[in-house]
Amino acid sequence: MKREERQQLFDTAKQWVLEAGENIRTAIDEPLRIDTKSNANDLVTHMDQQTEKFFTEKIRREFPDHSILSEEGYGDNLDSDKGVIWIIDPIDGTMNFVHQKRNFAISIGIYQDGVGEIGLIYNVMDDVLYAARRGEGAYRNEKKLPQLKQELPLEEAILILNNFWTCPNHKIEETKMQSLVRKVRGTRSYGSAALELAYVAEGIADCYLTMKLAPWDIAGGMVLVNEVGGLTTKADGSPINILEQNTLLSCNGDIQEELVGEYIELK
Ligand code: IPD
Ligand code: CA
Ligand code: CA
Ligand code: CA
Repeated sequence: MKREERQQLFDTAKQWVLEAGENIRTAIDEPLRIDTKSNANDLVTHMDQQTEKFFTEKIRREFPDHSILSEEGYGDNLDSDKGVIWIIDPIDGTMNFVHQKRNFAISIGIYQDGVGEIGLIYNVMDDVLYAARRGEGAYRNEKKLPQLKQELPLEEAILILNNFWTCPNHKIEETKMQSLVRKVRGTRSYGSAALELAYVAEGIADCYLTMKLAPWDIAGGMVLVNEVGGLTTKADGSPINILEQNTLLSCNGDIQEELVGEYIELK
């Protein structure tokens, strides 16, 4: 994608994200219609659906040749990464949205032929926008984010990890996860994959490891982390397929090597 095209697309997407966020903030104290999806803890509200529709209607009108991959069913069924694809999570952290009315984000990644061109993650209630364009750095609001520290001993690292992966599970060897938890300086869990990736990009956490995420959870964040010199791969270090569910490891190259070599044992 040419720089000028990317810039124009970025300006439009950013304006829509801020507008969608404003709509959510305005409605934050109104009663929610809450449904469940795959299980009793997999929540969806009418605001998730309404926000996704807000984007899909605008994209189809303004960019009829672009495709959409999104969580709540208003997007397209895609089997190829060719062309321009908007990968959208209208509310990432729906459980936080429902229970806390904060700590959730709108996440958008815009990819062309599989390459991440634009990443936008908007912490709606804090009014903080993380934004990146390929080759042009990543920002937290107006502030450009520095490159990640490339040498950081694990003993000094903050690891974002859901406690679930230290309990017996069918994806990853939990005893190794327990020794990793003992090794690092501390662990955190924020309940929004998009914000968790933004925090890695910002350098306020050093690594995010998880076993199951969808394209819309990670598409925006991957662009951000790339722009500050970080790596985002599957948990075994192999490349991510952005159209599929993935395990995920996002951090600097040093930490990635150590975790893949010594701590991550997939079942
Ligand atoms: C979820 C959040 C959560 C992660 C889940 C995701 P949603 O997204 O990102 O942090 O652990 O795997 O499904 O459903 O709130 O958009
Ligand atoms: Ca969901
Ligand atoms: Ca999500
Ligand atoms: Ca969501």
